[in-house]
Amino acid sequence: MDLLIKNGTVVTASGSFEADVAVQDGKIAAVGKNLCIDAEKTVDARGKLVLPGALDVHTHLAMPFGGTVSADNYLAGTRAAACGGVTTVFDYPVQHTGETILGLVNSKKTILEKESCVDYAFHCCITDLNGGEILNEMETAVDEGITSFKCFLVYKKEKMMVDDGTLVKLLLRAKELGAKINVHAENPDLIDIRAEQFLAEGKTSAWYHYLSRPEFVEAEADKRAVHWATHLDAPIYIVHMADKEGLEECIKAKTEGHEIYVETCPQYLEFTCDVYKREDGRNFVCSPPMKGKESQEALWTALKAGLIDTVATDHCPFQSYEKDWGKDDFTKIPNGCAGIENLYPYMLDAANSGKLTFERVVQVCSTNPAKIFGCKDKGAIEVGKDADIVIYDKDKDFTISVNNMHSDYDHTIWEGKKLHGYPVQTYVRGNLVYDNGDFVGTPGIGKFVKRIPDKKA
Ligand code: URP
Ligand code: ZN
Ligand code: ZN
Repeated sequence: MDLLIKNGTVVTASGSFEADVAVQDGKIAAVGKNLCIDAEKTVDARGKLVLPGALDVHTHLAMPFGGTVSADNYLAGTRAAACGGVTTVFDYPVQHTGETILGLVNSKKTILEKESCVDYAFHCCITDLNGGEILNEMETAVDEGITSFKCFLVYKKEKMMVDDGTLVKLLLRAKELGAKINVHAENPDLIDIRAEQFLAEGKTSAWYHYLSRPEFVEAEADKRAVHWATHLDAPIYIVHMADKEGLEECIKAKTEGHEIYVETCPQYLEFTCDVYKREDGRNFVCSPPMKGKESQEALWTALKAGLIDTVATDHCPFQSYEKDWGKDDFTKIPNGCAGIENLYPYMLDAANSGKLTFERVVQVCSTNPAKIFGCKDKGAIEVGKDADIVIYDKDKDFTISVNNMHSDYDHTIWEGKKLHGYPVQTYVRGNLVYDNGDFVGTPGIGKFVKRIPDKKA
C-alpha cells in the first residue's frame, strides 16, 4: 500500500466509526479496524477525525468582474483550497458573447492543468445562447463531463444576465440531458431602481448595497426560478441562498417532491447585514448581500434539518484598493469575498461546538455536492473512491488571519475569527498537499473531474 492512516475516527454522511484507511494508486483500497497492511507511509490519526475532502462547488477564480479580475488566480485559489481541506473546486467561467462552451472550458483547462493544486470541474455560466447553438452544444459538453450550467438572473448592466425565456430554454434542455441549471437569483430591475435612488439622495455607503438588494429582492427571483423549475418539472440548483422567504419557497417545493437543490455559504451563516454599517463594510460587499437575523436563523434551522443541500463559498476575493473604489459609491465596489480556505474549518468548528453534527458537515460539504453534481469518485471515505482525505484535529485552536491564509488577497472578512479544531493534513488522491499549516503540494497535480449526468429525462 502507498499510505495507511491508522487509528482515526472516520466520518461519513451517515455515521462515524474507528477505522484505518488504506490508500493505493490514489484510491481508497481498504477501510477497517486494525488493518494489517504494509504501507510505504503510515500516519497515526489517533484522536483525530478522518474526513472526505470537501468539494467547494462555487468559486470564481481569475474572474473578470467589477472592472477588474478576482484576486486569486487558479494557482493561488486551489493552493488555498488544499490548505482548507477542499480537494475539488468547481469554478464558474463566464461565457463572453459568441463564445462556445467547450471553447471557454478548454481555455480554462489549459491553465488549470498546469496550476491546479486540487481536482477541478466547471459549471459554465451561459450569458448568450448564440442563436440556439449553445442548446445543441450542451449535449457535447455533457458528454465531456460538464453536466451543470449557470444562469445569472442579475447583472443586467454587466451583460451577464439571462431573461426568463433563456432560463426556461436552458432548464428544459438540461432536463433532457440529465444536466443541471444553477441560478443566481436576484431581481436586477429592482436593484437598479433602488440603487439609482439612493445615489441621487447622496446615500453612498456600503449599507446601501444591502438596502438596494434586501430580502424581498432576492426572494422574488428565488420564487420565479422555483416557479419555472417546478412547472417544467426540471431540476434546479439555487446558489448562495441568503434570504428566508426564498428559502421557504424552495423548502415547500422540495417537500412537494420537486428536484430543487439549495446551496448557502458560510458568510450568510456567520454575518448579518449589520456588517455593512462598519467602517470597512465595503469589504463585505457581495451579491446577494448578507441579510437580517431572521434570514440567518432560517438558514441555520434549514441546515440542521437537512433542508439545505450544500454549503459552498462563492469565493471571489478582491484587493483592498479595489474595494476602495466604492468608498463614495457602493455601486463601484467589486462584488465578492474570500472563503475557499475557510469553508470546511468553519463548518467543522460549528460541529465541534455542537451546533450541528460532523456527519451533517460531511453531507453538505462533500457527499451531497459530489452526488448532486455527478462526481462518482468523490465525497466519501469508501473503498473505490478517490483518496481525497482530510485529517482534522478537534483540539487545535486557530485564529483566521490574512497572514495565515494561502491565497493572494490582502484582507479577509474572516480576520480574527476563532476556530476550535482545524485540519492538519489534506490528501488529494493520496498525495499530501497540506501539512500542519504549510502547503506541500505541487501545482498541476489537480485533475479535471469528468462528471456523469443524471439519467436522461
Ligand atoms: O458577489 C459575488 N457573489 N460575486 C461573485 C459573482 C456571483 O454573483 O456569484
Ligand atoms: Zn452569484
Ligand atoms: Zn458566485
